[in-house]
Amino acid sequence: MEFPASRIVVTGAAGGIGAALARRFHALGARVVLSDLHEGAITRIAAELEAHRPDSAFACAADIGTEDGNRALVETSRRLLGGIDLFFANAGVGTGGFVEATSEPEWDLAFDVNIHAHRWAAKYLLPEWLERGSGYFCSTASAAGLLSQIGSAPYSVTKHAAVAFAEWMSISYGDRGVRVSCLCPQGVNTNMLNGGDLGENGATNVVRAAGEVLEPEYVAGFVAEAIASETFLILPHPQVADFEQRKAADRGRWLAGMRKLQARVLGEL
Ligand SMILES: NC(=O)c1ccc[n+]([C@@H]2O[C@H](COP(=O)([O-])OP(=O)(O)OC[C@H]3O[C@@H](n4cnc5c(N)ncnc54)[C@H](O)[C@@H]3O)[C@@H](O)[C@H]2O)c1
Repeated sequence: MEFPASRIVVTGAAGGIGAALARRFHALGARVVLSDLHEGAITRIAAELEAHRPDSAFACAADIGTEDGNRALVETSRRLLGGIDLFFANAGVGTGGFVEATSEPEWDLAFDVNIHAHRWAAKYLLPEWLERGSGYFCSTASAAGLLSQIGSAPYSVTKHAAVAFAEWMSISYGDRGVRVSCLCPQGVNTNMLNGGDLGENGATNVVRAAGEVLEPEYVAGFVAEAIASETFLILPHPQVADFEQRKAADRGRWLAGMRKLQARVLGEL
């Protein structure tokens, strides 16, 4: 995919990976819609980008944890940009923890934001893309969607579902012009890792123990290159490919290793 003059929507763009993606795509010549729950932040970033190039950056507040929020976002973005070339379903939550301590609303939120949002967006994007014979869907899952997230059942399960949905999209529509990629990072230096969402149950410690914590700007640059070359699986932490191979080669051994890692990291809390 080529970025100059392309029309791109990024969700979860108020900060972290999403804001860095929107900035990077814009710097490469794209026109972008930044979407998030936090209207103030996306409005500020859009204004900053717009100052460089008129008619190139827009803010569209939406709750993508609902079908209506996704429908409105797709329709508004289409109107603002004149069509959508790349939709980046990046918003995510790290809600919940161990099964016995996770409430039903936490499970629902994790499913709504981390996976249902992707299929709701796709439902409203696909008619335009299939008619035109082109479109690009990229989602942010996580290394947790290929491996697991120690300390968080909802995060592990919904991120696996996000990877599965991206694979299914590629299989189902890849020969009809719809390209698909799926971003699966380990630790990235954002609010989710530092402050908040993944802060419970030692999950943050596990992510830090698993390898280098990357800056969102580095991840955005890595993603832009992967999308330019239309690579399906985007792994800014290359060791994730190795971990995944070890998992596939011997699941029993991999599970035993993960239990050891859990004991080590949670024992240190
Ligand atoms: N930071 C990491 O270590 C890491 C690792 C792997 C994957 N990820 C994934 O990367 C993505 C981006 O997260 P981040 O690390 O930049 O953290 P972040 O908290 O900075 O960004 C997440 C964004 O999603 C938005 N969001 C959440 N629920 C929403 C909703 N219902 N509607 C609209 N927006 C909503 C938040 O407001 C926030 O701006 C997430 O999908 C996350 O799961 C992060």
